[in-house]
Amino acid sequence: MRIDILTVLPELLTSPLSESIVKRAKEKGLVEIVVHNIRDYTTDKHRQVDDYPFGGEAGMVLKPEPVARLMDELLSERRYDEVIYTSPDGMRYDQREANRLSLLGNIIVLCGHYKGLDQRIRDLYITREISIGDYVLTGGELAAAVIVDSVVRIIPGVIGDEASALTDCFQDGLLAPPVYTRPAEFRGLRVPNVLLGGNPALIGEWQQEQAEQKTARLRPDLLK
Ligand code: ADE
Repeated sequence: MRIDILTVLPELLTSPLSESIVKRAKEKGLVEIVVHNIRDYTTDKHRQVDDYPFGGEAGMVLKPEPVARLMDELLSERRYDEVIYTSPDGMRYDQREANRLSLLGNIIVLCGHYKGLDQRIRDLYITREISIGDYVLTGGELAAAVIVDSVVRIIPGVIGDEASALTDCFQDGLLAPPVYTRPAEFRGLRVPNVLLGGNPALIGEWQQEQAEQKTARLRPDLLK
């Protein structure tokens, strides 16, 4: 999979996408992540990427020309399955969408900007607008990092233990059951006996029951 991220703040993406599982996925050659600085595609001498909005509201709007230049370059080089824009007014992101994206070949993620992006770029290039929640971030970079992280970790082959990604929270519409490690007793609290017993069938039953109870308690909306 190849992911091209278009941003005016590339530094915000460097660290979250250079550690842990994403780092390993890149090293294994399972994903290539290329971060592009939109500012490199301006032609004016001040390298300005945003401008005042028509209509006179507060805030700055990302100009269309540099983004279009960069998009055109990428789209002439290869086919993309999805061109995503991160914005609080997009569709709400969830595990189902992460699963879908993880099976695609090439995607572009354009990071949103303060007051927004010239609508014509959205009309011309964007195939999917995604929000990571009903709150407003300074820009779309952190949202892009969230999306890329959640997608990359479930690309087939990235997590060594194949079962591990499938037992994540949300993968079966339930929250994950509690987990424990050694010691078997800590500050008077014992690990449930069934987990110490080593019977896979009983452990599976217990985990399913715990996941259902926890979901009913904390996220009853998921059971609907
Ligand atoms: N940009 C600003 N806020 C955002 C959000 N909640 N989701 C995605 N992109 C954003």
